[in-house]
Amino acid sequence: ALESGELSPGGVVTEGSAGSTAISLATVAPAFGCKCHVVIPDDAAIEKSQILEALGATVERVRPVSITHRDHYVNIAKRRALEANELAAKDKKVSQVDGKDRDQMDGCLPNPEKENPGFLSHYNGGFFADQFENLANFRAHYEGTGPEIWEQTDGNVDAFVAAAGTGGTVAGVSTFLQEKSPKIKCFLIDPPGSGLFNKVTRGVMYTKEEAEGRRLKNPFDTITEGIGINRLTKNFMMAKLDGAFQGTDKEAVEMSRFLLKNDGLFLGSSSAMNCVGAVRVAKALGPGHTIVTILCDNGMRHLSKFYDPKYLAQYGLTPTATGLEFMSIK
Ligand SMILES: Cc1ncc(COP(=O)(O)O)c(C=O)c1O
Repeated sequence: ALESGELSPGGVVTEGSAGSTAISLATVAPAFGCKCHVVIPDDAAIEKSQILEALGATVERVRPVSITHRDHYVNIAKRRALEANELAAKDKKVSQVDGKDRDQMDGCLPNPEKENPGFLSHYNGGFFADQFENLANFRAHYEGTGPEIWEQTDGNVDAFVAAAGTGGTVAGVSTFLQEKSPKIKCFLIDPPGSGLFNKVTRGVMYTKEEAEGRRLKNPFDTITEGIGINRLTKNFMMAKLDGAFQGTDKEAVEMSRFLLKNDGLFLGSSSAMNCVGAVRVAKALGPGHTIVTILCDNGMRHLSKFYDPKYLAQYGLTPTATGLEFMSIK
C-alpha cells in the first residue's frame, strides 16, 4: 500500500480482525512509520487486545453482529480508514486555502476522537488492509506457506488440511500444492456454526443454526477463534478443495490437551482444530500417507478462554480424555 501510494507515510492501517492479523499489522506498522487501528469482536480473548495495545495500536472492541450490519467489526474498520482519508483531505484543503498553520486550524476540522472514541486524529489518511477480500493474503500463502511445505516435505505430501477464517491459508496453499501435483488432496476442517462445510460438500452456504426459528440474536457457535465464517470471501473462493470435514469444540479442546501432554505442543484453538482435521483426513486416507496442517498460533493468546477451566466448564467442555478416544482411536 505504501508503494502504490494507497497508504501515506504516517497514515493509519485499519483492520477488522479476531486478533492474529491485527497483531501482525500492529507489529510492522510502526516500522514503516505508520499507525494501526484495530476493530475486534469483544468475544475474542482479552489478551489479544492487550497485546495490540502493548504494540501501540488503538483498539475498538465491539459486539459481534452480522456482516450485513453497518457495525460489524469489518465494516467499522473499513469506515475508520475512510474517515481518516476524509480528515486528511479536509486538512489538506484547509492548509491550501490560506496557508495557515495546522494547529491554528484544528478547531475547524472534524473531531474524530469525539465521533469515534478511541480513534486517534489521523491527518495522514488511512488504509483498510481488508484481510478477507484482499488477495495479498492468498498470495502470501501461495508464495510463502505453500513452497515452505513443499520444501520441508521434499515434495512428499499426500494431503493438506486446515480451517478457514479469511480462507487465505487454504486457498494459497491448496492452489500451490495442486499445481505441483494434482494427486495432492486438500481439505477443509470446519468448526461449528460455519457455513463453509456445506458450501464445499453441497454447494450451499447454510448452517443448521440458521434454520427458520433457530437464528439467535447474538449467535454463539464455537469457542475456537479466527476460524469459521458464513460468507464467501474472495480469498476462500480461490481455494482448490477436494472435500471438507467438521470438528467440534470438544474435539478441539481434547486435542489441545492431548498434544500438550504427548507432544509438548501448547496450541491455540484453531491449531487444535486443524489437528482434529489431520486425524479426520488420516482416517479417510488410511495408513502410509503424509498429511500436513498448520499450527497457526500458540496457547498464550488463549489463556482466558480455551485454557481457562472455569470458562470451559461453563460450556460443558471440560477435557476428560486420557488418549485419543474422543476421535474414536484406542
Ligand atoms: C488464530 C487463527 N487461526 C486461523 C486463522 C485462519 O486463517 P485464514 O484467515 O488464512 O483462513 C486465523 C485467521 O486469521 C486466525 O486468527
